[in-house]
Amino acid sequence: MTAQTIDGIALSRQIRSEVGLRAAALTAQGRKPGLAVILVGDDPASAVYVRNKVKACEEHGLHSVLEKYDAALAESALLARIAALNADPTIHGILVQMPLPRHIDPQKVIAAIATDKDVDGFSVHSAGALMTGLPGLRPATPYGCMKLIESTGVPIKGRHAVVIGRSNTVGKPMALLLLQAHATVTVCHSATPDLAVHTRAADIVVAAVGRRNTLTAAMVKPGAIVIDVGMNRNDEGRLCGDVDYAGVREVAGWITPVPGGVGPMTITMLLVNTLQAAGATTRAGTAG
Ligand code: GUN
Repeated sequence: MTAQTIDGIALSRQIRSEVGLRAAALTAQGRKPGLAVILVGDDPASAVYVRNKVKACEEHGLHSVLEKYDAALAESALLARIAALNADPTIHGILVQMPLPRHIDPQKVIAAIATDKDVDGFSVHSAGALMTGLPGLRPATPYGCMKLIESTGVPIKGRHAVVIGRSNTVGKPMALLLLQAHATVTVCHSATPDLAVHTRAADIVVAAVGRRNTLTAAMVKPGAIVIDVGMNRNDEGRLCGDVDYAGVREVAGWITPVPGGVGPMTITMLLVNTLQAAGATTRAGTAG
């Protein structure tokens, strides 16, 4: 069997076109959705990510502000900027790009963002809302993974899902979103003794560890849905995921490519979250 590709670029385009319509409708009501993105330091990868986030806002009719600060910015100064943005009625979402310089405590920064502007969904409040099934802003990457899984049309309810990785930003919220969709969920991580035992039993595998070839063909159940969150470089310097794509696509039923799978969905769901924070309800944004 050769897997069907789950096209994150096409799905993104579809959701983003709805984002554009909703943003225009909100703007017409005098409530143009606004996102503030803060970058501290000069990490080149982070600079690319924030530029892409701001560009996506501009392309879809959202207001955006990019604030760049020197790596030496004091933590207190950053907290003061966040307080000002919390009070700014033109800003509905605040994103502080991670990682931050070592002298700044990311937990303090995340906690400083107003709950209703936490478009990353990283705060204790947002995590608690997800945990308890209350409405709230969901972390963009796992939220995008859910949309990719849903796009296959395969019901999630009753399926066995295996999440590889337990980060606060992807693995843990991914497991909770799958649980909320009534999957039976197993979370595997670096201390799991025999990963293949779990993945071979999975109807859905989400790989989010940051190590290439973590999931190979022999570890996958025929017909499974495989979502690859990884962003790594292979020996030739080309972008690759955590999944051995060439091998696994011969066994799986559905698979996301890297690039062109999860990556484009992350920014798309950030836009959806910003709309939600601005008071919109979108088809994509009501799945909570
Ligand atoms: N750094 C890498 N990914 C992300 C993200 O989704 N949000 C933030 N704030 N920082 C990041």
